[in-house]
Amino acid sequence: MFTRRVAVVGTGYVGLTTGACLASLGHQVVCGDIDTAKVERLRRGVVDIVEPGLSELVTEQVSAGRLSFVVGAAAAVSAGFPDEGDAEIVFLCLPTPMGVGGVADLRAVEAVVEETRELLAAGTVVVNKSTVPVGTAGRTAELLDRADVAVVSNPEFLREGSAVHDFLNPDRIVVGCDTAEAAERVAALYARLGAPTVLTDAASAELMKYAANCFLAMKLSYVNAMAELCERVGADIGDVTDGIGYDRRIGQAFLSPGPGWGGSCLPKDTHALLQVADAADFEFRLLRATIDTNTRQRQRIVDKVRAAVTGRRTGSLARVRLGLLGLTFKAGTDDLRDSPALAIAALLRQAGADLVGYDPALVGDPGDPDKVAPGVVEGPVGREVEGVPLVSDPIEAAQGAEALVVLTEWPVFRTLDWAAMAGVMKQPVVVDTRNLLDPATLRRAGLTGIGLGRRVA
Ligand code: UDX
Repeated sequence: MFTRRVAVVGTGYVGLTTGACLASLGHQVVCGDIDTAKVERLRRGVVDIVEPGLSELVTEQVSAGRLSFVVGAAAAVSAGFPDEGDAEIVFLCLPTPMGVGGVADLRAVEAVVEETRELLAAGTVVVNKSTVPVGTAGRTAELLDRADVAVVSNPEFLREGSAVHDFLNPDRIVVGCDTAEAAERVAALYARLGAPTVLTDAASAELMKYAANCFLAMKLSYVNAMAELCERVGADIGDVTDGIGYDRRIGQAFLSPGPGWGGSCLPKDTHALLQVADAADFEFRLLRATIDTNTRQRQRIVDKVRAAVTGRRTGSLARVRLGLLGLTFKAGTDDLRDSPALAIAALLRQAGADLVGYDPALVGDPGDPDKVAPGVVEGPVGREVEGVPLVSDPIEAAQGAEALVVLTEWPVFRTLDWAAMAGVMKQPVVVDTRNLLDPATLRRAGLTGIGLGRRVA
């Protein structure tokens, strides 16, 4: 079978998934990370990221001798392989956080290029998998200053919470390079997946990632705006999206209204593309409106909570106790980055509300009570996230609350003992920003459920 020696620099969720999945496709993979403690943990098979199947795949591939971990980029690209050869293909899976004014911060990529540029064997292909500004492949090639090393853009489209599945079942593989031979070598790594492959130039590949994520963000802003319109005209967003989703040009996926889109990708990428457009002197109004609609969505949820609790659009939330159900940016992850739930919590707190939060991903690990998700800190009265005290059971969030606000679509919320929850609340109101709960179940439990864009029964 055809195998390559692959180095992966960066073991975040993209890097670790890439490394473990490429190993499972038969390649020899060495992953490097600057975090010595993390490398130690990975060597012992301990995966810090909550990602279904990832930990098992890492353990399996390490035991099979196809996957190993080293400290630093330099060690990963050279001499880390069992046959003592150098890496033939080097993946950069590094953080590109949003810097000042929405511009992606490329310092991590630049530092790794600096560290490895003289170590790469002639003919190595350097692959950028992180979402980077258009033109980064060209810039990386300039920094590398190696005529014998090609730079390829191979954007990753995986979602948190289904990263392994998405990697191994891609809708498409995109490989962009100004040298066709290097692009084909990278595409060949994935040949066993049998996915459609788009070979293009580097700038088009880089832009394609933004084009996809910004389109998804636009789809969600559209749905959230449509849900608001439904409320005003007495229509039901669930029926509307169901109906339009049968049109294959639209599709059923990514049509659920919510508290606004968040996470580590969509907010960052929409702002970054706006920067790309600004720099190219292009007024991308549609994209700006997509972002503005999302910002407004958070305030809209606060207004909904205010109206639900006080019965008035201008009622006061001062000292009103609210229980928040779900704080992560979506279900299936413990990731709190750019979580709409936390943005809404901040607005509710500004309005004077007294908050407690419950999230199944943040209750702590019974096997290791000291282990907490990134973003969870010890506050004066226990664990908290951005000033929201955490409770370890949904019933504690309901205790004395004037409303519960469902902010993340955790399936377990559907089957809570809602009658018991209602029994301990000060006022039996649930604002369901994900349209997750069955209104009839809530009604039977004595609760008033308020969703987004739902027909009032
Ligand atoms: C996204 C892209 O889907 C993925 O292709 C890309 O590589 C990285 O960014 P991710 O950030 O993991 O993945 O989350 P995703 O599942 O896309 O959700 C993004 C946000 O949209 C979340 O806040 C989610 O709650 C929200 N969302 C998603 C909705 O509100 N409604 C939906 O129907 C789908």
